[in-house]
Amino acid sequence: TPNTQARLRIAIQKSGRLADECATLFKGAGLKLNLRDQRLLSHCQNLPIDILRVRDDDIPGLVMDGVVDLGIVGENVLEEERLERCATNRSAEFATLRRLDFGGCRLSIAIDKDAQYQGPQSLAGTRIATTYPYLLQRYLDNAGVNASSCMLKGSVEVAPRAGLADSICDLVSTGATLEANGLKEAEVIFRSKATLIQSTKVLDTATQELVDKLLTRINGVIQAKE
Ligand code: PRP
Ligand code: ZN
Ligand code: MG
Repeated sequence: TPNTQARLRIAIQKSGRLADECATLFKGAGLKLNLRDQRLLSHCQNLPIDILRVRDDDIPGLVMDGVVDLGIVGENVLEEERLERCATNRSAEFATLRRLDFGGCRLSIAIDKDAQYQGPQSLAGTRIATTYPYLLQRYLDNAGVNASSCMLKGSVEVAPRAGLADSICDLVSTGATLEANGLKEAEVIFRSKATLIQSTKVLDTATQELVDKLLTRINGVIQAKE
């Protein structure tokens, strides 16, 4: 009889920090994949799983719209998309299957290394360049600070030097990018790790069982490292 089971679709980052970690995780979980070439779609050879490699920023929306079943994405990107969708009355539902043990970083406000900083009120009336306007605005609202932001999808760290903004709100991992651009961290506003999420769309029994099996294996890979 023909195998009619749908293939499980998982979105991961195509290149960048999370991409290699995802490949290692899948390998540890026993998935036979050829992720070496940069194809958009890779078929797992030993399980009915397809891996889609896309821009990290696209992953939350693909899961929330049920276009893919699972996704691995940074919580920073996930929370930003959730806030944006909630603000614009679009569906923002997903289930977190497991927080992962890689992709750790923080979203921070950084200012000129020589600037005075006396707490969040020092930001009042200034402009902050960021790729994360909703996370930034939530922080500013909670802190009671009136500041403006401007969107930059890349090269955020050069904005102050280029005269585009007074400060930035961007991801910090090692701190090397801030250091290289004469900036210092003033406030950490969000701490992030990679996380495995699932669409709220109901899967057929066999496919949901495959998700459960995959999650069990991923838990095993992570526990083995602890
Ligand atoms: C992030 C961020 C900084 C850098 C910080 O960019 O935008 O550029 O990492 O890391 P560091 O503290 O270790 O220097 P990422 O590499 O995620 O790429 P992107 O800016 O293209 O999204
Ligand atoms: Zn990105
Ligand atoms: Mg960057």
